[in-house]
Amino acid sequence: MAQKPMNILFTSVGRRVALLRHFRSTFARLNISGRLLGVDVSADAPALHELDDARLICRIDDSRYIDSLVGLCAQEGVALLFPLIDTDLMKLSRGRPDFARIGTNAVVSDPELIEATSNKYKTHDLFNRLGIDTPAVFELEHGREAVYHYPLFIKPLDGSASKGIFKINTARELLFFREYVERPILQEYVSGREFTLDMLYDFNGALRCIVPRRRIEVRSGEVSKSVIDMDPAVMEAGWALGNKLQGARGVINVQCIRTAEGRVSFIEINPRFGGGTPLSLYAGADFPRWLLQMARGDDPGDLRLAFTPGVYMLRFDDAVFLPGLPALQKM
Ligand SMILES: Nc1ncnc2c1ncn2[C@@H]1O[C@H](COP(=O)(O)OP(=O)(O)O)[C@@H](O)[C@H]1O
Ligand SMILES: [Mg+2]
Repeated sequence: MAQKPMNILFTSVGRRVALLRHFRSTFARLNISGRLLGVDVSADAPALHELDDARLICRIDDSRYIDSLVGLCAQEGVALLFPLIDTDLMKLSRGRPDFARIGTNAVVSDPELIEATSNKYKTHDLFNRLGIDTPAVFELEHGREAVYHYPLFIKPLDGSASKGIFKINTARELLFFREYVERPILQEYVSGREFTLDMLYDFNGALRCIVPRRRIEVRSGEVSKSVIDMDPAVMEAGWALGNKLQGARGVINVQCIRTAEGRVSFIEINPRFGGGTPLSLYAGADFPRWLLQMARGDDPGDLRLAFTPGVYMLRFDDAVFLPGLPALQKM
C-alpha cells in the first residue's frame, strides 16, 4: 500500500473515542501519515479531544452546515468523511456530489436508503418490499384496543437510543401509552435475543462483511456488554437482507430479534457506524483498514470470515481529563 497521507473527517464525533482511537492505530499499522479531523457543535464532546484537528461547527439544521464542511474538506485535503449520528445523514447524502467535486469521498448511503431508515413506518415498508421478516405494524385507531393480541410494542416512529419505548401488555396500557409516546408506531412484540449486525459495503455498493454482535446488556440506549455470536439463522437472514439493500455505502448496522423458534425479525437500519462497532473492530473486522484500502483502490479480499467469533465487549466508563477546554476554531 502506498504511503500517501490520507486525512479523515468525522462529523458529530460526540463520545466515539474508541472508534477514533482505532482509526489512529490503523494509520500507525499501515504506516499512513493521515490526520484525523472532526467536528461537533459543542466543545465538551469527549471525542473532539482525540483528534489532530477539532472544530466547532454550526448546528446541523443550519443552512451553512454542508458548505462549512465542504470548505473544511477542501482546505484540509480530506479524503474520506464519515458521519457518526443519524441527524446529518440526509444532508450529507444529498451533498455527496459537492464533496466529490473537491475530492472528498463522503462515505454515506444514498438518500433513498436514508429516507427509508429515518422513519420506522418506512423501514417497515422497506423490509416488506424486500421480503424480509419484520414485526407486524398495527393501526393506532381508537376502538381497536380490544381486537389486538397482547403483548404489543410501542415506540416513537422517529426515535433513537431506545427512548420512549414500551412493551404493552393490556388494552388499558395501550390507551395510556398511545398518548404518552410522541409520534408512536405500534408493533407486534417480538421476544428473543437481540443482534446488531455491522455490515460493510464497498464503494460499489457490494456487501463484503457482516459481523453479528449479540446484545447482552444495554445502558442508556447504548450497548454496554455484547459478544460476537455467529448464530446461523441470524447470519443467513443478515446476508439475505444485506444483499438486497440498495444504496448502502461504508459501514451500516441493522438490528434484529432472533426468537427461540429461529425466526429472525428485523427492526431497524442505522446507515452509519454503530455505537457498539468497537467490538467488531477488536474482533478483527478492521473496517477502518479495509475502507482505507478500498479508498486507495486496493481490494481487501474476501472479508466474510475475517473476524473471530466469541469475542466479548464489556464496557466501562472512561473519561478525557483536560486542564480546561481548549479554544477550538469555530466554522
Ligand atoms: N417490535 C418489537 N418487539 C420487541 N422489542 C422491540 C420491538 N421493537 C423494538 N424493540 C426493542 O426496543 C429497542 C429500540 O427499538 P429500535 O427500533 O431499535 O429503536 P431505536 O431507534 O430507539 O434504537 C430495540 O433495541 C429492542 O430492544
Ligand atoms: Mg435501535
